Amino acid sequence: MSRVSTSRTEERRGRNGARLRLPAAAVALALTAAGLPAVPAGDAPRAARELHAALEATPDTAHGARLFAICLECHGPHGEGNASGWPPQIAGQHRGVIVKELVDYRAGLRWYDPMERIAGRHVLGSTQDVADVAAYAASLNPSPDTTPGPRRGLETGAGLYVRRCQWCHGVRGEGNDARLVPRVAGQQYEYLLRQLRDTIEGRRPNMRAQHLRVIEGCTMEELMELASYMSRLDRPERS
Ligand code: HEC
Ligand code: HEC
Repeated sequence: MSRVSTSRTEERRGRNGARLRLPAAAVALALTAAGLPAVPAGDAPRAARELHAALEATPDTAHGARLFAICLECHGPHGEGNASGWPPQIAGQHRGVIVKELVDYRAGLRWYDPMERIAGRHVLGSTQDVADVAAYAASLNPSPDTTPGPRRGLETGAGLYVRRCQWCHGVRGEGNDARLVPRVAGQQYEYLLRQLRDTIEGRRPNMRAQHLRVIEGCTMEELMELASYMSRLDRPERS
């Protein structure tokens, strides 16, 4: 991100801050982020080249399974993520989406230090590694052990979802591999909610402006209802 777009981000944060009525922890996080040194510019051309190469590569899923050993320390033994919403569920996410997110962390287009380090050649040394681990994680079944959001306001959440989100994320929240649209069904509630807030506050720079527009006008209440609805879509039964 250049300095120019960083300051635009801060303007956006200021404009939406009041409307969102963020909890104290989120405000503290926003302030910490504002006080950090300038973020290095993301390398979009490199990311586009690597995304293409990783999607074209023939994945070695057995190698991906070995690489996944490090991921499960945070993402859970079955790739189910955590109720706190920090590590999201990645089991059963589309291969293309996992590849894109890893490449974005690697190229400074999505920010989260540990993931930037892991994807940025400390664990995943090559484009082939990215392709392998993504194929393995995508082959896992989504877990029944994610933590959904509250039931309150689910109908409002469903209505908003159908009007604004369904045409991309799908009727069942299934996403779309070829179009790199994430599966949101059965995702950890807290993760979904944080991604929505992060997008509005400019902390998820790889979200396109079009995406910001569909969620920008939402109140905090509506974001919670949307996240809760998505977290409850198509959750697998515990066997
Ligand atoms: C130190 C803990 C940790 C480890 C180890 C880790 N992750 Fe993550 N990962 C996270 C957290 C936390 C997030 C959410 C960060 C954010 O909000 O951007 C995340 C996000 C992701 C995402 C984005 C998911 C989405 O829906 O957009 C992918 C993909 C991912 N990790 C894959 C991996 C893979 C593959 C590995 C192993 C090579 C791995 N992670 C190892 C903590 C970890
Ligand atoms: C024009 C298509 C489109 C529409 C409409 C859309 N999304 Fe998305 N959404 C995407 C794409 C593509 C991504 C992945 C962005 C990226 O990281 O490259 C995404 C990512 C997300 C994520 C992050 C998922 C993750 O795993 O990190 C959430 C949460 C989300 N969208 C929620 C919503 C909600 C809620 C709505 C409706 C209010 C919505 N989206 C409308 C295309 C769309």
